[in-house]
Parts: sequence; C-alpha cells; structure tokens
Amino acid sequence: MSLPDKTGVYGGGRMGAGIAHALLVAGADVVVVETDPEAAAKARTRIDANLARSVERGITATGVLSVTTDAADLSGAGLVIEAVPEIPGLKASVLASIELAARDAVIASNTSSLSIDGLAAGLAAAERFVGLHFFNPVPASALVEVVVGKATAAAVVAQAQEWVGDLGKSAITVADSPGFASSRLGVAIALEAMRMLEEGVATAEDIDTAMTLGYRHPVGPLRTTDLVGLDVRLDIADHLEHELGPRFAPPQLLRDKVEAGELGRKSGKGFYTW
Ligand SMILES: NC(=O)c1ccc[n+]([C@@H]2O[C@H](COP(=O)([O-])OP(=O)(O)OC[C@H]3O[C@@H](n4cnc5c(N)ncnc54)[C@H](O)[C@@H]3O)[C@@H](O)[C@H]2O)c1
Repeated sequence: MSLPDKTGVYGGGRMGAGIAHALLVAGADVVVVETDPEAAAKARTRIDANLARSVERGITATGVLSVTTDAADLSGAGLVIEAVPEIPGLKASVLASIELAARDAVIASNTSSLSIDGLAAGLAAAERFVGLHFFNPVPASALVEVVVGKATAAAVVAQAQEWVGDLGKSAITVADSPGFASSRLGVAIALEAMRMLEEGVATAEDIDTAMTLGYRHPVGPLRTTDLVGLDVRLDIADHLEHELGPRFAPPQLLRDKVEAGELGRKSGKGFYTW
C-alpha cells in the first residue's frame, strides 16, 4: 500500500466521514478537521458508526482517527481531501488553509460540480491539487473520479490513481470539465428520460425498465432522479446548460415538478410516489 501514513479530511459531514472511513480501513491515520467542537463530535460519531458497521462485516480499521478544529494539525500529512459544502468561497479559503498547514501534501477536492482550475486559481501550489470525486455512500461505491486540472502535475495524477486503488476503489481519469464524466452522462440520460415521459412515449416505470433490464443499470434514470432529488438535478442541469449548451436544457416537466414541491423521495413524490 502506498497511502501516506498520515492523511487529512477537511469537513467530516456525509462525504468527509465516508472518505475518512475508507482511509482508516485502508490503514492510514486520518485527521478530520471540523468547524467547531459540536461539529467535530458529530463527525466522530458518524465515523465511529461507519466503523462499527464495518466490524460487523469482519473489516477492521487499522488507521488511527483524530478529530480537530485546528487546521494546523494537518501538518505532515501526505494527502488532504477537502469535503466542505459546495460553496466556492468557502472551498477557496479551506484549500488555502490546507496549503499553509500541509506543505508537502497532495491536496484534493471532493467537489461534485466546481471547476478544479477555478479552485486552483487561489493556490500557490496548484501542481499538487487534483479532484477526487467520491460517490455517496462512500463505503458502498466502487468509483472515484480523478479530475485533472491544467496545472495538476502528472506525478500527482499517477499517485492519486494508485491511492484510489489502495482504497479498494476504481479510478477513472477525467479532464476538468463541467459535470466531469459521471454527472454529465447521468444527467444526459435522465433529461432524455424526462423528455420521453413528457412526450408520452412510455410510463416512468417502463422507461426505467428499459435501462435496468435493457442495459443492466441497477436503477432507472427517473427513479435515480427521485433518489437524488429533483431540485438537485435541476440545479445540475441548469449549470450544464450554461456551460455546455442547450442539449442540457431542463425539460419543463422537471421545472414544474420542482415548482410544485415534488422533489422525489425526500418529499414523498417525484416521478414516483414514495
Ligand atoms: N452528498 C453527496 O451525495 C455528494 C457526492 C459527491 C460529492 N459531494 C461533495 O462533497 C462535498 C461535501 O458534501 P457533503 O454532502 O458531505 O456535505 P455535508 O454538509 O454533509 O458536510 C460538510 C461538512 O463540512 C463541515 N464544514 C463546513 N465548513 C467548514 C469549515 N470551514 N471547516 C471545516 N469544516 C467545515 C460541516 O460542518 C459539515 O460537517 C461537497 O463539495 C459536495 O458537492 C457530495
């Protein structure tokens, strides 16, 4: 295993806790940085719960966890992954403090939609900055997108790919571009499925079954949209339309449903009733 002995995760929420868990199970020590003692305690509880579930499945973590509110504790880490909320200004300031605290670390962002080049613009050491896009829930997902910025050093890309393998996951390597590979493809299929529903081509169930039985997708595109949240997918489609053009224009049906509060599973109704 080539993972650094000491790693850091900045932000111990849903994704950060999952990433910390993956690192601990792979044998790396992890320092999780949170905003305040209350958030730090919550992060520890989340990670401990993930670890307890692993133990039930016979997987023991050999890495040591520490949770802190002081970014200086990242000193000496070889890899620090940022997983704070998707707010550009917040990410920029967090990345700058990682750069200061962990002077030799590879710095990664788990952003799902922001440009890696945009985030790199504020860094002095942009060559050691890369996107590592994990999926939710982290323990159950096999994929990590390694997102390569214009300034990312080739050695950093190679190192990141190897580390993803150390975490027991598969890396795909994607140039920094809107929606990377996964969101762009996933949203493209979902928007076409919505247009088909709008045009009365088939029912939601039959459109989903076209993909589950026809293409072995585990879940159809409309059900996936219900699980992700229609509002979340509308935001991504708006962003991709802005960046990539009208082929990502959200169908009126999606706008109408979001307007009506039909957001998918979380609101009880989306393309399906939950
Ligand atoms: N949730 C998903 O399905 C998913 C999937 C892939 C990528 N992402 C990306 O991962 C990132 C995190 O998302 P999440 O769902 O885990 O969010 P979350 O809200 O669950 O967690 C964010 C955590 O960051 C902490 N935080 C906020 N400001 C901080 C600061 N200044 N210093 C330290 N900690 C701070 C919060 O206390 C919180 O615990 C986002 O960029 C998101 O786009 C999310």
